[in-house]
Amino acid sequence: MVCLGNICRSPLAEGIMQHLADKEGLNWQIDSAGTGDWHIGEGPDSRSVRTAREHGIDISQQVCRLFRESDFDTFDQILVMDKSNLSNILAMARNEGDRKKVSLLLIDQIVPDPYHDDRQFEPVFKLIEDGCKAFIQRYK
Ligand code: 4NP
Repeated sequence: MVCLGNICRSPLAEGIMQHLADKEGLNWQIDSAGTGDWHIGEGPDSRSVRTAREHGIDISQQVCRLFRESDFDTFDQILVMDKSNLSNILAMARNEGDRKKVSLLLIDQIVPDPYHDDRQFEPVFKLIEDGCKAFIQRYK
């Protein structure tokens, strides 16, 4: 799960996808990372932590990190939140195999950045949850 800062959207996406996959009995390992380095080492944004907690998901122990080239080797799928994340990650791809792993979490829709608007965290949670549910139906 990849977004820009790795403090708002992708930590939610990691928590939600792991929660849903575990509930389905799927042995999936989910992680998240960002393309920007401002918040490395920090926990998720308190608004994401609170929103997740309101839905019974604890993301408070996650630690922000940068996306790295080896993530292309470690993970089968790299799901990004918006078009800018998509072009940043595709620019790091080494070959067609890497490129094939990368897609938007939502088909033909982006998950907007809620960083500057407190009211967007709940709708963003719902968007990500819908995307994760659809992904699980496709891939489980
Ligand atoms: P995110 O939101 O990409 O959903 O984690 C952002 C968080 C922080 C910043 C940008 C986006 N920032 O510029 O610090």
